[in-house]
Amino acid sequence: MKGIILAGGSGTRLRPLTKVTSKQLLPVYDQPMIFYPLKTLLDGGIKDILIIVAPDHAGDFLKLLGSGKDFGCKFTYEIQDNPGGIAQAFMVGQNFIGNDNVTLILGDNIYEDTFQDAITSFKSGGRIFIKDVKDPQRFGIVEFDENNQVISIEEKPKAAKSKYAVTGMYIYDNTVIKKVKHLKPSDRGELEITDLNNLYLKEKTLDIAFVNGKWFDTGTFESLHDAIVFIRDKKLAKKK
Ligand code: DAU
Repeated sequence: MKGIILAGGSGTRLRPLTKVTSKQLLPVYDQPMIFYPLKTLLDGGIKDILIIVAPDHAGDFLKLLGSGKDFGCKFTYEIQDNPGGIAQAFMVGQNFIGNDNVTLILGDNIYEDTFQDAITSFKSGGRIFIKDVKDPQRFGIVEFDENNQVISIEEKPKAAKSKYAVTGMYIYDNTVIKKVKHLKPSDRGELEITDLNNLYLKEKTLDIAFVNGKWFDTGTFESLHDAIVFIRDKKLAKKK
């Protein structure tokens, strides 16, 4: 299993904080944001990790993370020239993935859970992780049928069909490389991760698991603040 951390994009919702640095390098209490998704991959046993960054701040990521030796893993770096969508990560990372399976995590997602079982037990298809949210219009939202089976996923719906959001970690088999080539850019000009998940769903190979612990997408001031307070309280409680 290979790992990818997607840490590009322009972080426009966090301006002016992201005017001179990347969102994923901003502090979340006592660590740079990207350390948290990195730990999630490392705790899942993934040691071969591609970091995808935007051209502007590539050097800063290299300076912070280096070869991976300090973290007991190996880093590869790729530049995403333009933010063409989360699913584009599998095109940028095609050579890195080779013939392996891959876990993608967004560089601004913070999980309390660990995913060792979910990662090591993965065999084929796709596996996503959902969590109930108060603001479904911000996320990819799943729709259930009367038997509680997921029948579709909708990206940022105006009228959400459930309160369950697809969180920012995705496990795929190697067919992801072929699948992503069939995707067409959405109205916002991006290759959507939701479209990719819907391809697996149509094939009936998408496994859907629940996130039990806390989860933060730190892409807005409110959620970034909530994440910082949560991490601080957890770390202070541990010290007591
Ligand atoms: O956090 C979970 C949500 O992430 C999912 O529920 C949605 O289905 C999914 O589309 C995504 O929504 P966001 O609105 O949070 O996506 P955003 O455009 O903010 O991108 C998420 C991260 O990925 C962000 O840290 C920047 C990075 N990114 C994004 C794009 C579009 C890239 O590195 N390159 C890109 O091209």
